[in-house]
Amino acid sequence: MIDIKQIAKKLKKPCYILEEEKLEKNLKILQYVREKSGAKILLALKGFAFWSSFKMVAKYLDGITASGFYEAKLGLEEFRRHKKDSIISVFSPAFKQKDIKNIAPFANHIIFNSFNQMIKYHHLLKNVEIGLRVNPMYSEVNPEIYNPCIQGSRLGINPFEFSKALEIYSLKNVSGLHFHTHCEQNSDALKRTLEHFIKYFGKYLNGLKWVNFGGGHHITREDYDIDLLIKIIKDFKAKYNVDVYLEPGEAIGWKCGVLVGEVVDLIHNTFDIAITDLSAATHMPDCLEMPYTPQIRDSKIIDLNNLQDLPKDFKYCYRLGSPSCLAGDIIGDYAFRDSLEIGDKIIIEDMIHYTIVKNNTFNGIPLPSLAILKKNGDFKIVKKFNYKDYKRRNG
Ligand SMILES: Cc1ncc(COP(=O)(O)O)c(C=O)c1O
Repeated sequence: MIDIKQIAKKLKKPCYILEEEKLEKNLKILQYVREKSGAKILLALKGFAFWSSFKMVAKYLDGITASGFYEAKLGLEEFRRHKKDSIISVFSPAFKQKDIKNIAPFANHIIFNSFNQMIKYHHLLKNVEIGLRVNPMYSEVNPEIYNPCIQGSRLGINPFEFSKALEIYSLKNVSGLHFHTHCEQNSDALKRTLEHFIKYFGKYLNGLKWVNFGGGHHITREDYDIDLLIKIIKDFKAKYNVDVYLEPGEAIGWKCGVLVGEVVDLIHNTFDIAITDLSAATHMPDCLEMPYTPQIRDSKIIDLNNLQDLPKDFKYCYRLGSPSCLAGDIIGDYAFRDSLEIGDKIIIEDMIHYTIVKNNTFNGIPLPSLAILKKNGDFKIVKKFNYKDYKRRNG
């Protein structure tokens, strides 16, 4: 087993390291689901767009799902390159005409968020299957920022608007329906959600080719009930005679790599504080958005205001912060076995999905490099960023 710690020691700048072996483990689980259930699985590029690894990803998945032209084009260039018959599906809450013209020549599915858009653009789509995103009015997602079924949501046509639209329009140009209502959920949530989807939209499925169950299925997480997922899909396919698509992002990049940085200074204000060259705001925004505290290798997450239950051998406690000006740009509070020193490496776990795709250069903080630890143990930095990347985006 290659030790990330040995690699980290040699790194001079912050770096995301994708571990190919772990990525492949996730992909094999997803392939098993495809084979057993008959579902097609698309990679959601919004969560994982590390295209240097797509040769491997394309071996196991059916294609990609994109949120617009850029992601779709990346899918065309870097996924279809490795798998000629890969599916490119695109959903956006609202397409401009130019987007449609750009995407139409190579997309397989374009999924609209309204009848308006479908009517406006369907004549431009010759070899593309059209889908409509619906809102089944049920989602167990918390916090609300990730819940597409909150009151007043702009995502998906609700059942009442759908039936009202059908008084004027028809589904003759429509091949499929799509819903996305999950975030990090197990298959029992899908089972409950499908009851709502069927209640409201089951009556429209006759004659359609497919239903896309969206993303948010945490299939590669240790406690995920894969057998239930397979049963749900098989039953649904048999009952409605449609293809089923899943489009996870997080499940592909789940626990398959780290972010490495280092301690730049140590200060004290009520607590011992380590200022690192890593920022939650710029390198791992979900930590602030969700919010959650990421795991750091060889440490325990603690609450510096309550140290009563501190594990015995973890007596060196720190708040880890970033080099940005944002007071709340804190990675978390941690206890270590040994005291931290300036220059010590920090290895943050599970930092491949929804990190690189969300990076920004707030405060001019450098973007971490991108590296791959190959299955054979080779370590390769595939992309480095520098001052020019910052300058180009700012003027
Ligand atoms: C429409 C749609 N599909 C797929 C996904 C991917 O979800 P996840 O990465 O949680 O699996 C998302 C995420 O927001 C989404 O909005």
